[in-house]
Amino acid sequence: MDWGMQNRLSKIIKPKDGRTVMLAVDHGYFMGPTTGLEDLGKMVNPLLPYADTLMLTRGGLRNYISPDVDIPIVLRVSGGTSILSKELLREGMIANMEEAIRLNAAGVAFSIMVGADFERDTLLHFSKLIDDSNRYGVPTIAVTAVGKEMARDARYMSLASRIAAELGANIVKTYFVENFEQVIETCPVPVVIAGGKKQPELDALKMAHDALSAGAIGVDMGRNIFQSEDPVAMIQAVRAVVHENHTPQEAFDKFNELKKQTK
Ligand code: R5P
Repeated sequence: MDWGMQNRLSKIIKPKDGRTVMLAVDHGYFMGPTTGLEDLGKMVNPLLPYADTLMLTRGGLRNYISPDVDIPIVLRVSGGTSILSKELLREGMIANMEEAIRLNAAGVAFSIMVGADFERDTLLHFSKLIDDSNRYGVPTIAVTAVGKEMARDARYMSLASRIAAELGANIVKTYFVENFEQVIETCPVPVVIAGGKKQPELDALKMAHDALSAGAIGVDMGRNIFQSEDPVAMIQAVRAVVHENHTPQEAFDKFNELKKQTK
C-alpha cells in the first residue's frame, strides 16, 4: 500500500490499538437540521478532544469547524437525495477527490445501496471513487446503507460488506446485527459500526462492546452520542469501551460519573 494511503489510514484507525472512535455528524446531507446538530459547531467542538476522527460534509466542515482544529476529517462525498425523496439514498457524488484533498481529508465516505433497484448506480459511482481513492492515496469508507425493504440481518450485512470490500473499500461501515461474527469473518477489511437511532446509553454501549467483541475495530457513531443527555460524557464512555476495553456497565458508570460532574 502506498505511503500516503497508509499514513491517512493511521489517522483514522489508531495504530496504538488498531481501533477508532469516529464521530459521525454528516446527517444534515439528507436530514437537514438533525436534532442535536442545529448548531453543529456548538455541539461538536466540545466532543473533538475525545474523537479519533470527525465525519461530516464539506459544508459542515467549512461552516462550523475551525481550520486550526486538530482532528482527522472523513469527508462525506455521497449524497444528492433527502428524507423527502421517494428514492432515498439513490446517491451520487457530492464532492470529488480534489475537494477532499483541498480540505486535507484523511478519508472519504460513500454510501452504497446493495439490493436497491438502483444498486448499480451507487456501486458504479463507488467504484469510480475507488479509482480516485487509489490514485491520490485517500482511503474510502463504504457506508452500507440499508433500505426499508431490506433485511437488517447478518446475511445482508455480510453481503453488502463483502461487496464493498471487493469493490475496493478500505474500511466498511455497517450496522450491528445478531451473529455479527459472520459479517467480520467474510469481510477482508476493517469494519466499524454505525450507531443508528438513539437508544438508552447503556444499550448503545452494549452494542459497541458486542461489535468489538465480534471483531469490529470501532464505531462511527452519531445520534447515540450527540443526542445523549450528556454528549461529552457519552463520547468518553464510548471511548472507554473502544480503547480501554471497558465493559458496558463500567463505561455506563463512567458516563454517570462524568454526567454528575457537569451538573
Ligand atoms: C448515515 O448514512 C450517516 O453517514 C451517519 O453518519 C451514520 O448513520 C452514523 O450515524 P448514526 O450513529 O447516527 O447512525
